[in-house]
Amino acid sequence: MIFYFSGTGNSKWIAKQVADYQHENLVSIADEILKENTIYEYTLGETEAVGFVFPIYSWAPPAIVLDFIKKLRFINAKGHYFFYVCSCGDEVGLTQEIMNEAVSAKEWKWHAGFSVIMPNNYVSFPGFDTDPKELEERKLKNAVGEVERINKRLAKHSTDLFECKKGSWAFVKSRLICPLFNKYQVTAKPFFATDDCISCGLCEKHCPMHNVKVDTKPTWGDNCTACMACYHICPSHAIHYGKSTLKKHQYFNPNCK
Ligand SMILES: Cc1cc2nc3c(=O)[nH]c(=O)nc-3n(C[C@H](O)[C@H](O)[C@H](O)COP(=O)(O)O)c2cc1C
Repeated sequence: MIFYFSGTGNSKWIAKQVADYQHENLVSIADEILKENTIYEYTLGETEAVGFVFPIYSWAPPAIVLDFIKKLRFINAKGHYFFYVCSCGDEVGLTQEIMNEAVSAKEWKWHAGFSVIMPNNYVSFPGFDTDPKELEERKLKNAVGEVERINKRLAKHSTDLFECKKGSWAFVKSRLICPLFNKYQVTAKPFFATDDCISCGLCEKHCPMHNVKVDTKPTWGDNCTACMACYHICPSHAIHYGKSTLKKHQYFNPNCK
């Protein structure tokens, strides 16, 4: 069983490769969380592995992923293989530590965890933009071999195997900046659409949280995860996050459009 969350398709593409190679089912965390259960309970097959695939937001797993893990129960978890693969533009900070904390009270532990460098989609803060085209293409090309390498190791059920690119100043980024990000930046309030909007509905279709509704122009509800799918998928670049994205570029994984 592969649980995934994805905004602009990078993590969804990885999750699909992993699910195919490991012969596991894909489950969307967003679809599950929208059921608004207090507990999410699953029964595992005898040889089933359990994986999580998600993007990195502010040097940590997205709050929706941590919330889901908190509410997750396996009726029969015993001897099963547990792993995660996170996709990031550059580095993941203390994600490994945070993922360990998330399961510390559970009857299972992570056996493996990886980060995969993918094209960056973070644009909503001054100074951050998508990668230059050449770097974007290089990251997508490298990721194919990297995910294959990870898949081979997962298939062997390798344990104590953690390859997450922590980066510099990890404590400051994951423990000090990330809580501020979750408090002030995980909101749809700054989103608006300019008159370039052609009412195509792609933003509504690609919002994993079904938080965007298009009548003549898009409107946003209260269920935003800051994934930026609506901004990046817009074919007329009409969606913006306050003034901070006005001169920024767009990226959406070409395999998941
Ligand atoms: C709100 C937000 C915060 C992000 N923070 C980080 C980060 O701290 N480190 C990093 O390397 N990439 C960061 N990124 C980039 C994404 O993790 C990366 O592009 C990822 O592959 C996107 O996955 P997705 O296409 O499945 O949504 C951030 C992206 C967003 C939207």
